[in-house]
Amino acid sequence: MKGLILAGGTGSRLRPLTYTGAKQLLPVGNRPILFYTVDDMVRAGVRDIGVVVGETSNLIEAALGNGERFGCHFTYLPQEAPLGLAHAVKIAQPFLGEEPFLMVLGDNLLRGGVAPLVQRFQDRHPAAAVLLTEVRDPRQFGVAVVDDGRVVQLVEKPEHPPSNLALVGAYCFDARIHEAVSSLRPSWRGELEITDAIQWLVDHDEPVDAALVTGWWKDTGRPEDVLDANRLILEDLEPRMDGRMDDASSLTGRVVVAKGAVIERSTVRGPAIIGEDATIIDSYVGPYTAIGAHVHLSGVEIEHSVVLPNSQLEEIEDRIDQSLIGQGVHVRGRQGRPKSIRLVLGDQSRIEL
Ligand code: G1P
Repeated sequence: MKGLILAGGTGSRLRPLTYTGAKQLLPVGNRPILFYTVDDMVRAGVRDIGVVVGETSNLIEAALGNGERFGCHFTYLPQEAPLGLAHAVKIAQPFLGEEPFLMVLGDNLLRGGVAPLVQRFQDRHPAAAVLLTEVRDPRQFGVAVVDDGRVVQLVEKPEHPPSNLALVGAYCFDARIHEAVSSLRPSWRGELEITDAIQWLVDHDEPVDAALVTGWWKDTGRPEDVLDANRLILEDLEPRMDGRMDDASSLTGRVVVAKGAVIERSTVRGPAIIGEDATIIDSYVGPYTAIGAHVHLSGVEIEHSVVLPNSQLEEIEDRIDQSLIGQGVHVRGRQGRPKSIRLVLGDQSRIEL
């Protein structure tokens, strides 16, 4: 079985971070989101993986490499524009050939993994198998109606959802999907929708199976989703101390301190992770926080946040909470008068004071 990872999306809702980075590479628990997806595929026995890439192809390729470190092999498949999930299948066809494949979205995180979906597909040999989960507002997803484990109807982002079961962006297909894809017309949002292609299979009496998410699922399209995904990943943290800490500091709960990190006169309350060569001085790092490599904190309180590598936060009076901070950012409290705020912000930055 081959694999197909879709990593071509632009991440407009995560600007400004996605002006310089790829949304699939944003870290949760100090690891790119995409790496968890790859691990998950490899665990499900999928090793020959096509990666559909777009504008950020150089970043994705640099991060993933040839696949050796993950125990798989990547083939990069350039998509000229994000024209839909079914469009991605279309351009991947020469790579996929007639083989069955597992397709996943590179910015989605699944706990519990794709193995149950693959298992069901391999046991029952339907034309397609989709992974579903109950959601509160199905209108922002593809929605499926299921009868006795079989999908009987699908609709993309319906105004009046026929069920509360959303497609979570993990699909197994056999070669019948290619005929379905080639018969599609662009949807109202100008995309070739995989949801429509699967409906085509249903309409042509091809069996489509459904499996339910066993753990949790997170689409990481918005900053609050990235923070939430970080929280969920840190829930499973195994504590480890590879750095250095002085006697005036304390670690409580599950904390990982990576190699070269230094903690002085500070409190770290887990679950939290401190990246390689980070320095935490006179600070408090609270639960559900991931501090990236080479980050410097001094005189700061921070929790429920993600700080990307090489940033510096110093002498800030208020506690930083639920924040997503990019790479190489400097934030420094100002002493003295006038008591004013100075900002140098990139386009589409968001600040709450
Ligand atoms: C896509 C699919 C949708 C699915 C969602 C999961 O939506 O079209 O069916 O529910 O991923 O994240 P998009 O992210 O393109 O809006």
